[in-house]
Amino acid sequence: MTERAYDIVLFGATGFTGGLTAEYLAGHAPEQTRWALAGRNQAKLEQVRRGLAEINPGCAEMELLQADIGDGASIRAIADCTRVVITTVGPYIHYGEPLVAACAAAGTDYVDLTGELEFVDLMWLRHHEQAQASGARIVHSCGFDSIPYDLGVLHTVGQLPDGVPIRIDGFVRAGGTFSGGTYHSAINAFARLRQAARCASERRRLESKPVGRRVKGVTGSPGRNPDAGGWVVPFPSIDPQTVLRSARALECYGPDFTYGHYLVVKRAPQLAGLLGGAAAAIALAQLPPTRDLLLKLKSPGEGPTPEQRRKAWFNVRFVADAGGRHLVTEVSGGDPGYGETAKMLSESALCLAHDELPDRAGQITPAVAMGQPLFDRLQRAGIDFRVTG
Ligand SMILES: NC(=O)c1ccc[n+]([C@@H]2O[C@H](COP(=O)([O-])OP(=O)(O)OC[C@H]3O[C@@H](n4cnc5c(N)ncnc54)[C@H](OP(=O)(O)O)[C@@H]3O)[C@@H](O)[C@H]2O)c1
Repeated sequence: MTERAYDIVLFGATGFTGGLTAEYLAGHAPEQTRWALAGRNQAKLEQVRRGLAEINPGCAEMELLQADIGDGASIRAIADCTRVVITTVGPYIHYGEPLVAACAAAGTDYVDLTGELEFVDLMWLRHHEQAQASGARIVHSCGFDSIPYDLGVLHTVGQLPDGVPIRIDGFVRAGGTFSGGTYHSAINAFARLRQAARCASERRRLESKPVGRRVKGVTGSPGRNPDAGGWVVPFPSIDPQTVLRSARALECYGPDFTYGHYLVVKRAPQLAGLLGGAAAAIALAQLPPTRDLLLKLKSPGEGPTPEQRRKAWFNVRFVADAGGRHLVTEVSGGDPGYGETAKMLSESALCLAHDELPDRAGQITPAVAMGQPLFDRLQRAGIDFRVTG
């Protein structure tokens, strides 16, 4: 590993979130971090590098690596030359697998931003065992999906008594808009619900369960919820799955752990609009002609303006009960999907590259791979985790 040319390679730096991630690394990576940019378009990579040199003159000479998902040798070359890969090349179900496969084979640590359930399950089915054997840590969902929830629940569990059943409900509130890449990934995922369900059930069949402990998710129902301060609806994103995977892997979540995950809005009509909008998008995504129309509404590469990002925010409240103790914690920050996501993704890669971490490998969650060291990094970087009640 020490013979590898780089500590971190960022693949996808020419995209919207990749560009923000490159800027974060240029401003915050320790001087000793050896890092490079990778992408398929040399002219775009050079343009990104010029922008980074304005943030940090040391970036003016950084290496640019040519790599295209369609060219397997170029993807394997990335995995072979670095200790950690960051990828923001999505939709991951279309573009993600070659890099996961190359990292699993080469023993290279990997972080991404996927919120795509099918992709994560498919990568577990196809590459987890090889990653375990090679020592690669394949850590998906290191952005707004799923770091605030995964580390927020880990932090909450740390405040509760040991050895008792734990029930936690997570309530998500956020304001902001999304990029073309996120939009395309979501529409593609809506179009593939059947494939996603097949992968999930195959994984459930094969994955071992914790011995002598119980871990379960609850869905609950929509309605007014005083704990959440508004109207809630169960939110079947990748985040509760990530939390439950961490709970299965880590004994500290106790003998009987239950988690529910909800989106919160202030008023009932917003809830109705949200449910109606999601149902319409899922229906339209099923047929190629209407799906193509939906995909034309936003282009890959575009994203919220700096002004829109300045106004964006998130807050997640965790309400916990354990052994007679009632506790409320919160995680909050700025622009969830992009500014804070770039921070979370970069700090995850820096954590894998530089921090002393438990000896674990395979497809693992952020809490399992990095836990407290990543929590400490994110606190220092301005993501606010606190006990509020
Ligand atoms: N869940 C979360 O928390 C979260 C938050 C933000 C983003 N995301 C996800 O992150 C991904 C990126 O989003 P984004 O808005 O940044 O997308 P984007 O702006 O469209 O960027 C996509 C990147 O992929 C590259 N790319 C596409 N095809 C490629 C290929 N064949 N070979 C090599 N590179 C290729 C593009 O390169 P070119 O510039 O050369 O076209 C670009 O750098 C999406 O899947 C999105 O869902 C998730």
